[in-house]
Amino acid sequence: MAGNSFGNIFKITTFGESHGEAIGGVIDGCPAGLTVDYKAINAEMQRRKPGQSTIVTQRKEEDEVRFLSGIFEGVTTGTSIGFIIENTNQKSKDYSHIKDTYRPSHADYTFDKKYGVRDYRGGGRSSARETASRVAAGAIAKQLLKGITFNAFVSSVGDIYIDKPYQALDFSKTEDTPVRCPDIETAEKMISRIKEIKKEGDTIGGTITCVIKNVPVGLGEPVFDKLHAELGKAMLSINAVKGFEYGSGFCGTKMKGSEHNDLFNTDGTTKSNLSGGIQGGISNGMDIYFRVAFKPVATIMQLQETIDKNGNIVEMQGRGRHDPCVVPRAVPIVEAMAALVIADFWLLNKLAKI
Ligand SMILES: Cc1cc2nc3c(=O)[nH]c(=O)nc-3n(C[C@H](O)[C@H](O)[C@H](O)COP(=O)(O)O)c2cc1C
Repeated sequence: MAGNSFGNIFKITTFGESHGEAIGGVIDGCPAGLTVDYKAINAEMQRRKPGQSTIVTQRKEEDEVRFLSGIFEGVTTGTSIGFIIENTNQKSKDYSHIKDTYRPSHADYTFDKKYGVRDYRGGGRSSARETASRVAAGAIAKQLLKGITFNAFVSSVGDIYIDKPYQALDFSKTEDTPVRCPDIETAEKMISRIKEIKKEGDTIGGTITCVIKNVPVGLGEPVFDKLHAELGKAMLSINAVKGFEYGSGFCGTKMKGSEHNDLFNTDGTTKSNLSGGIQGGISNGMDIYFRVAFKPVATIMQLQETIDKNGNIVEMQGRGRHDPCVVPRAVPIVEAMAALVIADFWLLNKLAKI
């Protein structure tokens, strides 16, 4: 299987399956001399881990990151940073029903057809458990990028959404509710909706908005590795993601150029920011903001028709502990992937000119 690595200079490779011994990763290209804040890494892991509230999956995983290399006396040495996260709460029996049967809209069918061998327990490599390694690596990337802030939050669940621009939000409130929406009134509505959906044995989708502040001018490598193209790839590589837009996004298509242009101030900043902080694939110093769409995930606790590996029509119903809505847990994943992209371009930009 190719495709387990991401980045050019600050590069991560992840490994592991949901119900194997452990998952983990290797980070190449992290410069020497960075003092690692283990508490901050653990805090990010806690935001992603299952079982953290009643509106997410009730699996219990401690998600403790154990570093194996690349850090000496708390400081990075410039060598590859290896780490593992043990899998401690597998209930593989919960997945025996999908051994020879494909969950509709999950990765079972495509993995089986492509590889012919499938670790069906917990979804194996296709499980979002893999994203724990991304969060660990992203936490280190964040520490490298001192002064640059990453604030992701849940901006919608189903048809409930925050009806305000991000500038009107107080990001310090994002962690105040388990749904991770900083607009508390909207958050309460989202929580009720997720609880209803869970009772119905169903799932629901949503969006996450991410705002990156204090990015210097110049990050991004045209023509193929434009900053927004890499952010898009990073986000679309997250499980269950269906869409990505930055700046004015799809709404911009309804505007005229005269309305859409971001006019300059004399210092090079712009009066508006419909460009979303990126022009020509390069950061312009304004806030970078984008939105990521997540589908209602596949495993539902209702009977559905599907096929088995011999092509017979069968009925199946999800079992075990699943997320009724993944967006609250995906917030730290979005931030981690954004930090990995920015860290990589920040290092690459040091080669831009002499
Ligand atoms: C944080 C997170 C948790 C997830 N939990 C579940 C889950 O409990 N059940 C499920 O069917 N899918 C879950 N998913 C989504 C699947 O991993 C994903 O839909 C599957 O691998 C198929 O990939 P695709 O939807 O990107 O095509 C989760 C995704 C994320 C980001």
